Amino acid sequence: MTKPSTISMDGPAAAGKSTIAELLAEQLGYTYFDTGVMYRAVTWVALERGLDIADEETITALAEKIKIDVTRPTVDDGRQYTVYADGTDVTWQIRRPEVDANVSPVSAYPGVRAALTVQQRRIGQRGRIVMVGRDIGTVVLPDANLKIYLDASVEERARRRYLEVRERGQPAEYEEILETMRRRDKIDSEREAAPLRPADDAIIVDTDGLSIEQVLAKVEDLVRGKDR
Ligand code: DC
Repeated sequence: MTKPSTISMDGPAAAGKSTIAELLAEQLGYTYFDTGVMYRAVTWVALERGLDIADEETITALAEKIKIDVTRPTVDDGRQYTVYADGTDVTWQIRRPEVDANVSPVSAYPGVRAALTVQQRRIGQRGRIVMVGRDIGTVVLPDANLKIYLDASVEERARRRYLEVRERGQPAEYEEILETMRRRDKIDSEREAAPLRPADDAIIVDTDGLSIEQVLAKVEDLVRGKDR
């Protein structure tokens, strides 16, 4: 059996997608691409320029104009990659809580999605890629060879995000993170444009109570064609 060349990995925030996808891509010698950084970069630049997030026209125009680049890490500070927005390194800025709090409405705008989807598809079609997002299996790469949907309860995901933020030395409140997570889940899954949902042919992996190693082992089995 040939190995799947395009692998989509979708699921809600903090289900472990980026950790698992990066490890998997490294093992396979594939490119790892996290599409969430593109929505985050648009959101960060909008906030920094003082644009009104509720102004769909302005935010869409920004998404159509901004040049987002994702390269291998340029600094050895624990980053998985370097993200540029119009030439500025925004790798850590896009992880700030104010971006978390504003990225869902930005990613709900159809015009923003259309602009970013075109770029994602171009990258995905090169193959040998693990692409992470919310709508990769359903919209961006509907012909992906293997579609994985990572899931976990909202409490478990909030706990993981809380630990992540704390580890970076930033202040964090569990209850606040849980609330933001619930709000994002709701917007992401109820929006009209490409809502978060597993593709009909996606394999759902429930990660509650599983370690990274255990999830990775499951995903590797799927790549090898076991359980498929
Ligand atoms: O995976 P993340 O937390 O970095 O994603 C940030 C936001 O972008 C999240 O609210 C959902 C949205 N997103 C999306 O709508 N479609 C994608 N393919 C990736 C992310």
